[in-house]
Amino acid sequence: MKKQLIITKDGSHSLFVPGLNETYHSKNGAITEAKHVFIKNGLLAANKNKVNILEVGFGTGLNALLTLQKTKQQNLNIFYNSLEPHPLEKQEYIKLNFAVLLNCPQEDFINLHKSGWGKEIKLSENFTLYKTEESVRNFETEKKFDIIYFDAFAPEKQTEMWTKTVFEKMYFLLKENGFLVTYCAKGVVKRTLKSVGLEVETLEGPPGKREMIRANKK
Ligand SMILES: C[S@@+](CC[C@H](N)C(=O)[O-])C[C@H]1O[C@@H](n2cnc3c(N)ncnc32)[C@H](O)[C@@H]1O
Repeated sequence: MKKQLIITKDGSHSLFVPGLNETYHSKNGAITEAKHVFIKNGLLAANKNKVNILEVGFGTGLNALLTLQKTKQQNLNIFYNSLEPHPLEKQEYIKLNFAVLLNCPQEDFINLHKSGWGKEIKLSENFTLYKTEESVRNFETEKKFDIIYFDAFAPEKQTEMWTKTVFEKMYFLLKENGFLVTYCAKGVVKRTLKSVGLEVETLEGPPGKREMIRANKK
């Protein structure tokens, strides 16, 4: 899949996929969006020290890097399982400016990408990465998760990611009182999440987006 490097409004990079006419992040700021949706309303909202996270769509590794950074700053303990059937090439991720802008070691960012697939890798004292080179639809695990970072391409670009079948699986993979967060707040997505038994909260979105979703398993 061909991709082009772009600069979003907060100065952070993202990738544009011409074939889908879609970007990996909001054009209003990749780092700003990821921090708001996945860190502030995701990781920090769990209010726990030991957290199992499932990410749907590893992509550029931005959410993983932000989570690793928070783990170090706040002494959290994270198991981070990320799914990605189409990993970036080295020449694609090497150019991304996230580590510089976040003032964290470039080595951390590179290690997230270089880590092998299908094995647990301890990237810091309290952060274990487990990358699965697989579609969410085929993914199986015995683990359950406190948080799901649901970061697929938008429903109008990749409809098959936002179905009842996928969300039933997300429900099954969540622990009780666990939740899924996503940048998307479309009515049809809220209804599908509700139809599998999740309680949907609509939260303020990042700049440029009115709303986002947190869906809780009670
Ligand atoms: C919107 S991008 C965001 C990725 C990432 N979280 C980031 O910050 O760069 C969506 C990602 O989902 C991945 N993806 C596509 N189909 C998928 C599938 N069936 N299962 C899991 N991930 C998928 C894409 O390859 C892409 O990397």
